[in-house]
Amino acid sequence: MQSQCVTDGMLPDFLDDGTVTAWTASGAPLIDLLRRAHTPGRLTGFRRGGRAAVLITEPRHVHQVLGVGGDRFVKRSHRAKPLLGDGMLSATGEAWRSQRRLLQAMFTGRGIQRWEHHITGATASVVDRWADRARRGEPTDIGEDVQFFTVDTIWRSLTDHPLDHERYVDLAAVQDIVAALPADVGGAAALPPEVGAALAALDDRVLRALAEARTRHRGGAGGPSVLHRLLDAAETDPAYTDRLIRDELVTLLVAGYESSARTLTWAFVLLDRHPALMERAAADAAAGGSAAVEAVLSETLRLYPTGWLLPRHSPADEFVDGWRIPAGTDLLVCPYLTHRDPDVWPEPETFAPDRFPARAPLPPGAYLPFGIGPRACLGTRFAMREMESLLGALLARFTVETTAPAGEAVFGINLRPAGPLHARVRERS
Ligand code: HEM
Repeated sequence: MQSQCVTDGMLPDFLDDGTVTAWTASGAPLIDLLRRAHTPGRLTGFRRGGRAAVLITEPRHVHQVLGVGGDRFVKRSHRAKPLLGDGMLSATGEAWRSQRRLLQAMFTGRGIQRWEHHITGATASVVDRWADRARRGEPTDIGEDVQFFTVDTIWRSLTDHPLDHERYVDLAAVQDIVAALPADVGGAAALPPEVGAALAALDDRVLRALAEARTRHRGGAGGPSVLHRLLDAAETDPAYTDRLIRDELVTLLVAGYESSARTLTWAFVLLDRHPALMERAAADAAAGGSAAVEAVLSETLRLYPTGWLLPRHSPADEFVDGWRIPAGTDLLVCPYLTHRDPDVWPEPETFAPDRFPARAPLPPGAYLPFGIGPRACLGTRFAMREMESLLGALLARFTVETTAPAGEAVFGINLRPAGPLHARVRERS
């Protein structure tokens, strides 16, 4: 490592260029470079293509960058911008503030109650599918089932439209687009041409839903959907063009289904490896409880935070915990590594849902599956509610036995298991 001491603060330690060149040549994933740079007690990073990137993992550093420094350390250009356009995830400054203000109230604990019937309806349809699979003795693909569920809940909440199979295929093709996006932090990349057809089908679905909703809206009808809220806004705020409404819907669709689906899949992967914990959560859910299932989800999100890397950028000279951050530096907040800090999480690699709820308050910045600070997840309550509903209902009624391991973790734009998760499900007697 090369470090530099300067009078007004210490510069972070940077990996030597040879290490970075060797990593680049190896084609290894970014997490390998981050692990290489990670040095507890120091602020470390690396330089690539003339840009400096600093790794942020210690809870107090995370708190300084995302929490109290949330307005100074900004998003540079979201990696998914070619897909999401100017939606809330990639928007910045005043545009972001007003977009967030518009939808915030719909996603509080109270706000999401308006969509409870969508969540219970979508839960029931997966339970029916598993009952059918159990009757026929056919295996099921858990990853696919939970994905149908999360697309179903978010699409209904966004548009008030039910999700049929054809719509699902168009909407879920978004995962091919997401998979084609770079996991790396070099700013927005162009979308590769092979995903053009998927993007066109997605846009067509979204714009058709928008046109239908507008007709109903003009007729004075309309449900409590996000789309209606956006159409209301468009009547008074010219910023809400059809393009921005499309971007917001696609953003909420992508942000809203992918992470919840992967988290549910990871929960089954982990429970499958720990049958006693699966039975405990199942017994609690069957007795009408939700605490054990919530603890399983919280611990799953600790070990596999789907938002494993949250990049920020420092437009001006700054300090983090006394370390000097020159203007132009990227800051790579990495919840995946933070959640494995042994000072906060003893035996960090062990799946132990008993850690939750935490007995003592956690240090600020120590646990952030939904981010922290002003850009924290809009859909936290929605996600926890839908995941708890489905996981509880499935565990209470079925035993689950996977037929092949799901494979290694893939550190893409999201953290996901490499393969499908095939399982046999049986009715509990
Ligand atoms: C397990 C499920 C989920 C996880 C782990 C998750 C995680 C996250 C994280 C880590 C961020 C912060 C990104 C950053 O700081 O760079 C975020 C932002 C966001 N999430 Fe989620 N999310 C989940 C579900 C949802 C759902 C269901 C929705 C929609 C209803 C949603 C909508 C959003 C939006 C709109 C943002 C951007 C907020 C902003 O920039 O103001 N998420 N999410």
